[in-house]
Amino acid sequence: MENSAQNIMIEAARERLFRDAKIDVLSATQDAENEKARAEVARSFISDTLTVPTPKMQAYAVQASLGDDVYHEPTAIALETAIARLSGKEAALFMPSGTMSNQIGIRTHLKQPPYNVLCDHRAHIYKYEVGGLGFHSGAAVTPVLPVNQHHLTLEDVEANVTLGTDMHYAPTEVIALENTLNGTIIPQNDVLAIAAFARKEGIAMHLDGARLWHVAAETGIPLSELCAPFDSVSLCFSKGLGAPVGSCLVGNADFIRRARRFRKMFGGGMRQIGALVGAAAYAVSNNLSFLPGVHALTRKLEKGLEEIGCEITSRAETCMVFFDPTSIGVELAELIERAAALPHPIRLSGSRLVVHIQTAPETVDDFLTLVRTLAEEKRAAGFVRLAQAVKTNGKNGIYKEVFVRTSLSRSL
Ligand SMILES: Cc1ncc(COP(=O)(O)O)c(C=O)c1O
Repeated sequence: MENSAQNIMIEAARERLFRDAKIDVLSATQDAENEKARAEVARSFISDTLTVPTPKMQAYAVQASLGDDVYHEPTAIALETAIARLSGKEAALFMPSGTMSNQIGIRTHLKQPPYNVLCDHRAHIYKYEVGGLGFHSGAAVTPVLPVNQHHLTLEDVEANVTLGTDMHYAPTEVIALENTLNGTIIPQNDVLAIAAFARKEGIAMHLDGARLWHVAAETGIPLSELCAPFDSVSLCFSKGLGAPVGSCLVGNADFIRRARRFRKMFGGGMRQIGALVGAAAYAVSNNLSFLPGVHALTRKLEKGLEEIGCEITSRAETCMVFFDPTSIGVELAELIERAAALPHPIRLSGSRLVVHIQTAPETVDDFLTLVRTLAEEKRAAGFVRLAQAVKTNGKNGIYKEVFVRTSLSRSL
C-alpha cells in the first residue's frame, strides 16, 4: 500500500518534471529573426566574429559523423588531418575557441615556473584572455611595445627577453607572436629572425594565427611557410572564415598529444562535435577564397575615409582599418550614434572597422556617404582643420607627427 502511494507520487513528480522541462528555444518568428540577423551582420563593422553560419554551411555540417570526440570522432580526425597538412605540422587538435587554443598551446610548452612569456603589448593572449597566462600557466608576461609601432622585431625581442641564470628574473620560455595583429601583417623576415634567435636560446615559439588565413590570402605565402618558424600555431575558423565556433592548435605529434590531455583538463573534451567540425571544414573550403575581396573592400573603405579627411591610424593591410574622424571635426561617439540612426543602421564600436565575408559592399558606400555628410555639416558649422603637424616626443621615445586641431573653431 505504502509502496504504491510512493509510486504514484514519483509518477506525478516525473510528469511535472517532463512537462516543466519542455524547452522551446525557437521563437514563433525564428526564420524572420534569422533573416534580420543576417541583414544586421552585413551592416556591422564591429568584428568578423559576428559572421553567421549560412544555410549551405548548416546543411553540410549536419551530415557529419556522430562519434564521441574524446574517443576520436571521424569528422574531427578528418579536419585535424587536413589542417595539419595545410599548416605543414605533424598534428592538429580541434578546440572550442581561439582563447582555449592559445592558452593550451602556451600551457603545453611550459613545465615548471618561474618563467615568462614575451609578446606584443597589444597581443590577444595578454590583453583579452582574462589574464589566463597567469591563471592557467602561472606565467609572468613581458608585454613589449614595438619600436617601429607596427610589429615586433628581433631588436625588440633582444631588448626585452630574459636569459641567463640571475635568480631575480623569470626566464623567457615562450615568445608568442600574433599574425595578423589588429589586421596588420608581420613581415616574414622578422618572424624568421626572431625564430632563429629563439631556437638558439631554447625558447619555444607560439603563434596566435587567428587570422593567419588573411596573411596567406594577402601575401601568397603558403600557410605551411608562415607556420614553419613556430612550434605551435592556433588557427581560428570562427573569425574571418565565418564558422560558428572552433580553432585548431597545430604542432608536432608529441606536443599535440600532450595538448589533448590539457584540453580534457580545461573542460574542452567534447563529445558529438561532428556538426561543429563540419561547419569549420565548410568555412575553410568555401570561404578562404573570399578573403582577397574582403581586403580590397577594406582598402576601398580606407581610401574613402582618407579622401574625406579622416586620419588613418592603422592601415588596411588585411580586413581592418583604424581611423580617427576628429580630423574632420567629428567625434567617434557622434558617428556611432548617427550610423545607428540610419534607416538601415550601420554598427561600429569604435575606431576599428572590421570588414568580413558577409559585409555588403553597399555598407561601405553608405558609411562613406554618412562620414562625408558629417564632414560637410561640420564645415558648414565652422570647423576648420588646423593641420599643423608638430613633432613630439612620444611615450616610448619615438618621434611621431601629431596634428594640432580645434574641434569647432570659427574661421574668420
Ligand atoms: C587575434 C585573436 N586571437 C584569439 C582570439 C580568441 O578567439 P575566441 O573568441 O574564439 O576565444 C580572438 C578573438 O577575437 C582574436 O581576435
